[in-house]
Amino acid sequence: MMLFKTTEQHEALRKKIREFAEKEVKPHAFMMDKENMFPDEAIRQLGAMGVMGIPFEKEYGGQGLDVLSYAIAVEELSRVDGGTGVILSAHTSLGTWPIAAFGNEAQKQKYLIPLCKGEKIGAFGLTEPNAGSDAGGTETTAIDKGDHYLLNGNKIFITNAPKADTYVIFAVTTPDIGTRGISAFIVEKGWEGFTFGDHYDKLGIRSSSTAELVFNDVKVPKENLLGEEGQGFKIAMATLDGGRIGIASQALGIAQGAFEEAVAYAKERVQFGKPIGFQQAISFKIADMATKLHTARLLIYQAAELKEYHEPYGMESAMAKQYASDIALEVTNDALQIFGGTGYLKGMEVERMYRDAKITTIYEGTNEIQRVVIASHILGKPPK
Ligand code: CAA
Repeated sequence: MMLFKTTEQHEALRKKIREFAEKEVKPHAFMMDKENMFPDEAIRQLGAMGVMGIPFEKEYGGQGLDVLSYAIAVEELSRVDGGTGVILSAHTSLGTWPIAAFGNEAQKQKYLIPLCKGEKIGAFGLTEPNAGSDAGGTETTAIDKGDHYLLNGNKIFITNAPKADTYVIFAVTTPDIGTRGISAFIVEKGWEGFTFGDHYDKLGIRSSSTAELVFNDVKVPKENLLGEEGQGFKIAMATLDGGRIGIASQALGIAQGAFEEAVAYAKERVQFGKPIGFQQAISFKIADMATKLHTARLLIYQAAELKEYHEPYGMESAMAKQYASDIALEVTNDALQIFGGTGYLKGMEVERMYRDAKITTIYEGTNEIQRVVIASHILGKPPK
């Protein structure tokens, strides 16, 4: 039965992750942002708690929980640090889910189990210098050499690189036939010819790592083909449908964190003889922020439940991602406005959250691409 709301078990999980985030992530968030520092220890602990494998089957080391539980975990981590939130999101939705959904038994035994247990970190390599929104323009090639494929090309803006151990990579196996010529592969860090470019210095989510992948004659064993040859683009698209629930949850969490900071400040900051929260200019802002957060949460929970029950959910996850990230910009902006000059200072949570929110309108499909996806669900394919 679909409820589009949380159960007692979901709220217990939320409490557990919130306590962890407050104790183990929040105290370091300023420094991680300033120094571009990956939260190695927090991710190790999240692995030990089972959080890196929430929606996967217990027999493969997962927790056997639902998609909504995973969305709540991303939301709660992002509430204190958007960078930590995306590490979990990219690991779960992008690096691990395609192996769970399309991997054969041997691939699941070898790769899925350590990913679910948090012993390994996962990543997803689709984007290239000439294939961003137009993912079908993939130029990386994987040429069949008999017992292996030879992988050559570059992937840019890859979340969790170079920290990740396991990469789901998309490459052209049959040129000149468009998206049907793209295949997916599981590629391991450390293989000869697989190196990393520079770490990107980003505006926000600075605790997450993002790097370029360089493949120079990398030998990928035949058994590391994920799914069928030529199925790669569909695997990428199906993966992104689910990934967008994660990014929507990240956006929601960042906005929720900024909202709570702003409400606390509005109750304590006195101007014109009373706390500013009781001045209509601020109280109306707070009411609008709360309504936006509530709407985003409903969209995300609905998309998560549709996915859980194997109902079509691609349009709903695009709507959730587009709306949650658009309002994350508005809510973090309003939160900073409520703080006034104080919020503009380094070291203030709202300053960091304002910067962290921006990426959510860009990655896992820009919000323009989300509208393309939503419209195509409504209108179908254009006439030839
Ligand atoms: N599920 C399964 N199959 C799908 C699908 C879906 N959601 N969407 C499309 N397909 C199939 C189509 O049915 C079609 O199949 P046939 O060949 O059998 O007809 C095939 O894929 C091609 O579909 P389109 O013609 O619609 O493809 P397109 O080239 O027009 O592209 C697009 C569509 C939606 C614009 C797509 O390119 C896209 O999603 N672009 C955005 C890419 C993106 O989100 N990148 C994010 C990178 S990851 C990231 O950002 C991670 C991070 O940092 C955290």
